[in-house]
Amino acid sequence: MAVMPAWWDGRDLRSMLPKIFFEHFRHTSLIAEHEDRLLGFLVGFFCPDHDGEAYIHFVGVDPGWRRGGLAGDLYRRFIALARADGRSVVRAVTAPVNMGSVAFHTALGFSILPGDAEVDGLPVTTDHGPQGDHVVRFELRLGEAPRDAEERP
Ligand SMILES: CC(C)(COP(=O)(O)OP(=O)(O)OC[C@H]1O[C@@H](n2cnc3c(N)ncnc32)[C@H](O)[C@@H]1OP(=O)(O)O)[C@@H](O)C(=O)NCCC(=O)NCCS
Repeated sequence: MAVMPAWWDGRDLRSMLPKIFFEHFRHTSLIAEHEDRLLGFLVGFFCPDHDGEAYIHFVGVDPGWRRGGLAGDLYRRFIALARADGRSVVRAVTAPVNMGSVAFHTALGFSILPGDAEVDGLPVTTDHGPQGDHVVRFELRLGEAPRDAEERP
């Protein structure tokens, strides 16, 4: 929680990650550490109400460790867990302002789902967040995902 504002360029998204996530979704969440220092984390879960679906709620990497494949590795590990649980689709959302996240998800093979409006040329779903925020929605169908992209060590 302490690193989030700095890692998200000053955007304070901590209220979207209350402690219930760490109490109930530890089995499907991951951290990357080096000598007890947090380098990255992923918070995700297997959807109880949507058979076959897994959802990544947050991923973040220390700015000094970016573009080294760390978030991709966390995603691949989560996808392997999801596949082992019989999940066939992974979804995630991001704010349209977060072009780094849009580029990251696209690079990993996620498709952008149709929305009900457009922001900067991106399809967005309006009124999705607590303050009526718009989001870009991503989906990766595991059957279509290249296995080497998911399972690279
Ligand atoms: C988005 C984020 C998690 C990516 O982490 P990362 O460890 O740097 O990602 P990877 O190194 O695994 O990137 C894999 C590929 O995604 C693409 N990519 C990742 N970040 C990118 C960026 N800022 N701009 C353009 N492409 C990017 C690249 O194609 C990259 O491969 P390459 O470096 O070989 O070109 C990281 O920038 C971050 O923590 N951002 C702030 C938090 C955030 O926005 N989280 C996502 C929404 S919850």
